[in-house]
Amino acid sequence: MRILITGATGVVGGATAALLAAAGHGKALLFLVRADNAEQGLERVRENLRKSVTDEALLQALTPEQVIIGDLGDVARFADDPRLDQVTHVLNCAAVASFSNHPLIWPVNVVGTVAFAKRMSQVKGLVRFVHVGTAMACGLSQASPIQESWSLGDDDAHLVPYTRSKAEAERQIRRDIPELPLVVARPSIVVGHSQLGCSVSTSIFWVFRMAQDIGGFMCSLDDSVDVIPVDYCAQALMLLLLKPALASDLYHISAGLEYSDTFREIESRMAAARGIESLGTHYHRFDESEIPALVPRFQERLGVRNRRLIAMALKLYGGFSKLNYLFDNHRLLSEGMPPPVRFSDYVARCVETTLGMPLLDQMMDDFK
Ligand SMILES: NC(=O)c1ccc[n+]([C@@H]2O[C@H](COP(=O)([O-])OP(=O)(O)OC[C@H]3O[C@@H](n4cnc5c(N)ncnc54)[C@H](OP(=O)(O)O)[C@@H]3O)[C@@H](O)[C@H]2O)c1
Repeated sequence: MRILITGATGVVGGATAALLAAAGHGKALLFLVRADNAEQGLERVRENLRKSVTDEALLQALTPEQVIIGDLGDVARFADDPRLDQVTHVLNCAAVASFSNHPLIWPVNVVGTVAFAKRMSQVKGLVRFVHVGTAMACGLSQASPIQESWSLGDDDAHLVPYTRSKAEAERQIRRDIPELPLVVARPSIVVGHSQLGCSVSTSIFWVFRMAQDIGGFMCSLDDSVDVIPVDYCAQALMLLLLKPALASDLYHISAGLEYSDTFREIESRMAAARGIESLGTHYHRFDESEIPALVPRFQERLGVRNRRLIAMALKLYGGFSKLNYLFDNHRLLSEGMPPPVRFSDYVARCVETTLGMPLLDQMMDDFK
């Protein structure tokens, strides 16, 4: 077995690579990494895996020969690497995962990703290509709970270019590379780690903290939020990558109807962990049109001076919060995956691991 992982320097890819290494697959791993040379690439991977791997020996056992230097924006530059032809399993986690108008979103998430999938489809011994999509690729016009479906709705119905790019990549890979042993895994919202809290990443956690600090948000307190911890996402990806036979080729990795929480539950558990009063009846639900007037008031409360950043954060993440989407997870559970721990049950760990960390610093994982 030879497992090629892209995106191992990121949150999801790093946690999954760490889990695979801990499960005894360290020697079978190959990493596609952006770096100047294999030693530097390996150091980048090790540094990231160290966030969730406590056994340093596992990391030291990885070697520079397991690193392919490459950028998904320029697949031709690494496509001739003979190690690619030994690969049996691909876990494609790499993407520009940004809600901004990053100019590389389309070239990397669509053009490069499809070119990479085409290259890997030529590998004779390839058993499985797990492409990590996003549940939000379903766009805006769906009725919750959302089922896994290849039909991703209207191309224009996206809040940000990122989700549109993820939908388009799936479409093109499936349409243009039918010979690829493709399995698409669509995680919902990944926040922290069930044991390690936000020490692995503060991505998206700060949105809940921000809403609490400003006393409201754009969703209703009773709207549901489909959140999973990164260790659960990693476990599910490992299962989808290595289980010999799967019943489907498309899966949500999500909390679903049963294991999601309402915003109210999350806020109240966060308040308890912070030792502050829960918002309760003081919660103020606001509309996008109110954001410009509200931002100056929020500056001081949030300790963030950059008005544009506050306005952008409220608009982008508020827009998603209003969707009130839950993603059906029956398929994954039917494959033998246990259900996830609820966000409200580990949010205290996220609070503990961000104590004293300014909100602006927490936001940087998503605005880098
Ligand atoms: N986090 C979530 O809530 C969530 C939810 C649903 C789906 N997903 C999906 O999960 C995957 C991983 O997301 P994440 O949250 O782990 O993102 P992340 O932390 O930002 O990591 C992104 C990874 O992609 C790599 N990458 C970016 N551009 C690249 C390029 N041009 N060539 C090669 N590698 C490149 C990054 O490498 P560098 O370190 O070199 O930048 C990094 O390793 C993405 O496909 C995302 O769409 C995430």
